Amino acid sequence: MYRVLVTDGVSPEGLKALTEAPDVEVDFRPTLSEEELREIIGEYDALIVRSATKVTARVLEAARRLKIIGRAGVGVDNIDLKAATARGVIVANAPGGNTVAAAEHTLGMMLSLARNIPEACARTKAGVWDRKSFVGVELRGKVLGIIGLGRIGSEVAKRAQAMEMEIIAYDPYITEERARDLRVKLVTLEDLFRQADFITIHIPLSKENYHLIDREAIAQMKDGVRIINCARGGIVDEEALYEALKAGKVAGAALDVFEKEPVTSHPLFSLPNVVVTPHLGASTVEAQLAVAEVVAQEVLTALRGGFVRHAVNLPYMRPEVLPVVGPFFPLAEKLGMFATQLLGGRVNRVEVNYSGELARYDVSLLTTAVLKGVLSVALQDTINYVNAPEVAKQRGIKIKETKQEQEEEYVNLITVRVQSPDGEHTVAGTLVRGKEPRVVEVDGYRVDVLPQGYILFVPHMDRPRIIGRIGTLIGAYDINIATMQVGRREIGGKAIMLLTVDNPVPEEALEAIARVENVLGVKQLIL
Ligand code: NAD
Ligand code: MLT
Repeated sequence: MYRVLVTDGVSPEGLKALTEAPDVEVDFRPTLSEEELREIIGEYDALIVRSATKVTARVLEAARRLKIIGRAGVGVDNIDLKAATARGVIVANAPGGNTVAAAEHTLGMMLSLARNIPEACARTKAGVWDRKSFVGVELRGKVLGIIGLGRIGSEVAKRAQAMEMEIIAYDPYITEERARDLRVKLVTLEDLFRQADFITIHIPLSKENYHLIDREAIAQMKDGVRIINCARGGIVDEEALYEALKAGKVAGAALDVFEKEPVTSHPLFSLPNVVVTPHLGASTVEAQLAVAEVVAQEVLTALRGGFVRHAVNLPYMRPEVLPVVGPFFPLAEKLGMFATQLLGGRVNRVEVNYSGELARYDVSLLTTAVLKGVLSVALQDTINYVNAPEVAKQRGIKIKETKQEQEEEYVNLITVRVQSPDGEHTVAGTLVRGKEPRVVEVDGYRVDVLPQGYILFVPHMDRPRIIGRIGTLIGAYDINIATMQVGRREIGGKAIMLLTVDNPVPEEALEAIARVENVLGVKQLIL
C-alpha cells in the first residue's frame, strides 16, 4: 500500500482518484507544525499540500520514503525545491486550475477598492447610513498596469477590457505577438509606474522579485495610484506601502497575500483605504476541485512509476540514453540561463548546436534543458522539462537544434545562441573530466568559467588599468572575487571580462563599474 498524507485544505472530492485507489491509503491532517510533520513524514510515500505547509529541508531530511510532493496550486515557494531534488523527490504542481479563480478575485479586489465596498458594507451593517464618505472612482477609461502577463495576468487583462479599461503590461519574457493577441500594450516597468491608475501584480515570488514594489518604485507611480496584489506577499514592501498610503501618494491597496502568513494583525489593517482577504485567490469550489484532481492524478502516476506531467524539478530520460546525455543536463540548463541573462529580457529565438560524441544521440531533452534555463530566468520553478517546449511555443520562441558529429577542440560542445530583435548572445560549454560544467566561449571570446553563483559580465575596450579599477570598486563593497577571466581577440580591441564573485554586487557598484572609462557595459548573472 502507498501512503499519502494530505495537509492544508485540499478538496477531498478532487482527491477521489487517490481515496478510491485500491493500492493507496490517504490520511488527512490539515494543520501540522514543522516539527509534527517531520515526526510523521517518514511513513509516507506522497505528500499533498497547498501554501500553508512549509516543506523545509528539515522536513525532507526525515522523508525516508517520500517519492512525490503534490502542490494543489501554482506557487511552489513553500517547498524547498533544492532539498527535494537532492533527495530525488518529485515536486509537481497544478498550474492552470486556479487561474480564473485568481483573476476573478483580482477583479473583485479592484472593484472593492474603487468603490469602497468592504468599508461601506461594514459601516452600513453597523447601522450607519453614510453615502458621503464612500464616493468611489470608475474603472472605465482608467489605465490598468499588469505586472506579469502570464496565465493569471492574461485572464485579468481580458476581464478588465470588459470594464473598458486601457491595459498596459510589463513582462520582459512575453513576446509582442502574444501581447498583441491579448490587445495589451507592452511597456517598460518605469512607463507602467508612470502611466497606470491601477497596478496589479501577477508574478511569482523569487529572489529577484522580492520587494519589486519598494519605496523607489512607489515614488515613480502616479499620485493616487491603487495597487492590487493577489500574487505573493514579499513582492510588495509592506512598510513602504503603508507609508505611501498614509502620505496619500497611494490612494488605496487591495491585498490577498502577505509577507508572513497567516497574519491576524498588521499596521495595514488599520487603514480604511486598504482591502484585505486571507489568501483567497484560488479559493473557489471549481478551482479547488480542479487543482486537487490534477494533483491526485500526478501523485497516483508517480507512485505507480509513470510519467509526471507537471513535475517542476525532475527530468525524464529514456534509460539507455541516460548515462551519456544525463551528465550534460545541468550544463545545458546553465547555458540557457547564462545566454538569456546576457540578453537581459525577451527571447525570440534559441539555437542549440551539439558537436562531438553527443551529436550521435537523441539530445532533444538537452535542448529542452536549454529552454528550461532560458524560460526559468522569468518563470523560475514553474518551468519544468515537460512544459518548457509548450511554454516556449506559447511565447512565440523559435527553436533550432543542429548537430555535427566530428569533434573539433572539445570531445563534446554545446553552443547556445539566443536572439531578440535587439541583439544576440552565444555561449558555449563543455564538461571537464566528463562531469564539471564549464563555459568555454562567450560571444566568440574564449573563456573558462564555472557557471555557478554570481557572475559579472563586463564588455570593455582592451586598455591598461581597467581590471585594477574594477577589482578595487568591488573590493570597496567587501565582495570577494573568486575568479577572473578576460577574453580578447586582438590587442587594444573589444574584450570581455567575467568575474565570479562570492556575493551579489549591489546596483550602486554595478553603476560605478559601468562608468569606468572604456567599460562598455555590465551585467550581473545569477546561476
Ligand atoms: P505564470 O507563470 O503563468 O505567469 C507569471 C508571469 O510573470 C510570467 O509571464 C513571467 O514572464 C512574468 N514575470 C516573472 N518575473 C517578472 C518580473 N520581474 N516582471 C514582470 N513579469 C515577470 O503564473 P500564474 O499562474 O499567472 O501565477 C502567477 C503567480 O500568482 C504565482 O506564481 C502565484 O504565486 C500567484 N498565485 C496566487 C494565488 C492566490 O491565491 N492569491 C493563486 C494562484 C497563483
Ligand atoms: C497558488 O499559488 O496556487 C496559490 O497560493 C493558491 C493556493 O494555494 O491557495
